[in-house]
Amino acid sequence: MTAERINITREPQRAISEASRVLNDGFPVAIPTETVYGLAADATRADAISRIYETKGRPQFNPLICHVCDIKMAERYAVFDPVSRQLAETFWPGPLTIVLPLKKDSAIHPLATAGLETVGLRCPEGYANELIRAFDRPLAAPSANTSGKISPTSARHVMDDLGDKLQLIIDGGASPVGVESTIVRVDPETGAILLLRPGGLAAMHIADAAGRDLERRAGPAAIIEAPGMLASHYAPGANVRLDATSVEPGEALIRFGGKSVAGMENAAIDLDLSPSADLAQAAANLFEYLKRADASGAASIAVTPIPNEGLGEAINDRLARAAAPRDGEE
Ligand code: TXA
Ligand code: MG
Repeated sequence: MTAERINITREPQRAISEASRVLNDGFPVAIPTETVYGLAADATRADAISRIYETKGRPQFNPLICHVCDIKMAERYAVFDPVSRQLAETFWPGPLTIVLPLKKDSAIHPLATAGLETVGLRCPEGYANELIRAFDRPLAAPSANTSGKISPTSARHVMDDLGDKLQLIIDGGASPVGVESTIVRVDPETGAILLLRPGGLAAMHIADAAGRDLERRAGPAAIIEAPGMLASHYAPGANVRLDATSVEPGEALIRFGGKSVAGMENAAIDLDLSPSADLAQAAANLFEYLKRADASGAASIAVTPIPNEGLGEAINDRLARAAAPRDGEE
C-alpha cells in the first residue's frame, strides 16, 4: 500500500470527503494541524484506535489527545471547571490541550484514554477543525510518526516514514507552530494550573490569561502526570549534544540567533533555527532541522543554547528528550 496524498489547497472538498470516508471505515488518516501532523482516528472506536498504535508501532497504550471542533463538542465528553473553561474560551482553537475528567458514559473509547478517568482534549485550527466538524466525532491523534521518531511537520515527513502503512495523507503544507501542543490540567478545587507538557502555546500566555503562575513538576512526577512522555520520545539516529559552545569537525550544527560558533566551518551541516532569534520561528523549524541534521550522516548533532523563555521552554524540552539516553520503549 502507498498512501494517497491530497492537498487541501488544491482539493479542499476531497480532502474532507476522502478523509471522512477512511475515518468512517475505521482507519487512521494523517492530517495537518497547526502544531504537527497527527495520525487521526475515530476516538469512539476501539478498532480505529488500535490501528493508530499498530501504525506507529507503539509498544504500549498511552493516553492519546482527543481533538474536538469546539467547546460544545468537548462538553459531550468531559466536565469543565471554571478555569479550564476560561482557558478553552481564550485559546481554542489553538495549540493547547486541557486534561479534564471524563463524563460518565462518555463515548470516547477507553483505548484512547488508556483507561484513565480523564481525557486530554484539544481543539485544533483550520483543516483539522473542519474535518472534525464534518465528521461530528472526536479524533484521537498522536503525532504521525513511527514511535520514537521525531514528529512530522510536513506531509513529506509522514510519507517518508509511514507512507506504506497508510491509506491517506492530507497535505496542508508545513505546520506553522512546529512543536506539539502545551498540556495543562487544572485542579478543580484550587484552580491551580499544572503544566504537564510545555508546547506550542507559551506558558506565560496561559499565566497571563488565568492571572496565576503555572505549576511545574520536574522529572519523573511530570512523566507520571502525563503518561507516555518518555524521555527518548523524540530521538533522531545521531547523538544530540546540548549547550554546545563549539562544534567538532564532521559534527552537524544546530544554532540559534545568528551567533557564530567555534569550528562551524568544519561542520557537516550548519543550520540556524532562527537567525533573527525569533523563538516562534525556531519552534517551527526545530523538527525539520533535527531531521536534516540527522540525514547529513553526522554521528553527532551539536546544539547551541536556546533561551528558556516563551516557546524556548518547549524547544528545550524536545531537545532534552532528543538528547536523552534511549530507553528502547518508545
Ligand atoms: O500537538 C499535539 O498535541 C499533537 C497534534 C497531533 O495535535 N498531538 C499529540 O498527541 O502530541 P499525543 O497523543 O502524542 O499526546 C499524548 C500525550 C500523552 O503522552 C500524555 O502525555 C498526554 O498527552 N495525555 C493525554 N491524555 C492524558 C491524560 N488523560 N492525562 C494526562 N496526560 C494525558
Ligand atoms: Mg509524538
